[in-house]
Amino acid sequence: MGSRLIGYGSYLPERIVTNFDLEKMVDTSDEWIVQRTGMRERHFARDDETVVDMAAAAASRALENAGITINDIDMVIVATTSAELDFPSVGVQVLGRLGATNNAPAFDVRGACTGYIYALHCARAFFSAGIHKRIMVIGAEKMSRFIDWSDRSTAVLFGDGAGALIFEHSTSSYSGIIDTVVMSDGTEMGMLYGTPDHHIIMNGPETYKKAVTLMPAAASYIMEHAGITADNVDWIVPHQANLRIIQSGAQRLGFPLEKILVTVDKHANTSGASGVLALSYAFDNNIIKRGQLVLYPAFGSGLTWGAALIRV
Ligand code: ACO
Repeated sequence: MGSRLIGYGSYLPERIVTNFDLEKMVDTSDEWIVQRTGMRERHFARDDETVVDMAAAAASRALENAGITINDIDMVIVATTSAELDFPSVGVQVLGRLGATNNAPAFDVRGACTGYIYALHCARAFFSAGIHKRIMVIGAEKMSRFIDWSDRSTAVLFGDGAGALIFEHSTSSYSGIIDTVVMSDGTEMGMLYGTPDHHIIMNGPETYKKAVTLMPAAASYIMEHAGITADNVDWIVPHQANLRIIQSGAQRLGFPLEKILVTVDKHANTSGASGVLALSYAFDNNIIKRGQLVLYPAFGSGLTWGAALIRV
C-alpha cells in the first residue's frame, strides 16, 4: 500500500517583520542577516494567535483544496514544538476546531525542524500497514514565542506559519510518500535546544557544520535506497534554515540551483512547518507542478535529521 497527495494548504500570519524592522528591535542589520542567512522577512503571529489557530487554518485550506471534509480524514499528525498547551495535542485540538465527529485519532510529533519528515515517516508507515485511508500531515509553529531579544544570533532566524498536506491510500508505491528516512543523535543535544523558559540556545557555527553534512547525507541515502540519482528528482525542498546551508547542501549533492526551492527569504526558519509550508507556497505560485518528484531533506534540534521522497 502506498499513498497519493490529494490536497495542500498553508497559513501565514498577517504581520510581516522585515530585517529593517528587526534593526529597530535588536542590534543587527539587514546586510548581516541577508549575507549570513538569505532571510529578508518573516511572519509573526499575533499575541493571541496560537499554533492551533494556524494549524487549523492550514488544515481547512487543505481540505478545501482536496474537496473533502474533516470527517473524511482518519488520522491527523502534527509536527510542532511550539504548542502553547502541553496537552492535549495540537492534532486533537485541530479536529475539535474543525468540527470532526468521526473520532479519528490525532497526535503530535516533536522532531524540531525535522518534525515534518518524522510526521511523513509515520504517515508512510500507517499507509504501508494498510490501516488508514486519509492522513493529514500538518506542520505548525509559533517560533516567535521562543525569541530571546537579548540574543541577536538567534532572534533574527525564525518565523511563524503552518502548512498541511493530505494523503490518501493508493495501490501505487510510486506516488505520494514513496520513501522516508529519519535519524537522531541525542548525544549532540547541547548544540541546539529550547529552555524551560522558552529560549533557544544554539551554537550557530556547530549547527551549521552538522546541517551541511547531515541533510545531504539523508538525501543521498534516500536516493540510493530508491535507486535514483539527482537527475531523476524534479525539485529538492530542503528545510528552510539558512540559504547558505541550502546552497552548500545542494552543491554537495550535485543539484543545480534551479532545482532548489527557496522560501527562507520570505518565511525565515519556521522549524517543523518549514517544508510543508514551502511545498504549499510552491504549488500556489506554480513553481512545483503536481506529478513531480520532490526530495525533502531536513535537519534540526536533537539532533534529528532525515529525508522524504514524494511524488506530489
Ligand atoms: N546581527 C549582527 N551580527 C551578529 C548577529 C546578528 N543578528 N548575530 C551574530 N552576530 C555577530 C556575532 O556576534 C559575531 O560577532 P564577533 O565576530 O564580533 O564576535 C559575528 O556576527 C559572527 O558570528 P557567528 O555566530 O560566527 O556567525 P556565523 O557566520 O556562524 O553566522 C549563523 C551565524 C547565521 C547563526 C550561522 O552560524 C548559522 O546559520 N548556523 C546555523 C543556524 C541554524 O540554521 N539553526 C537552525 C537549524 S536547525 C533548526 O532549524 C532548528
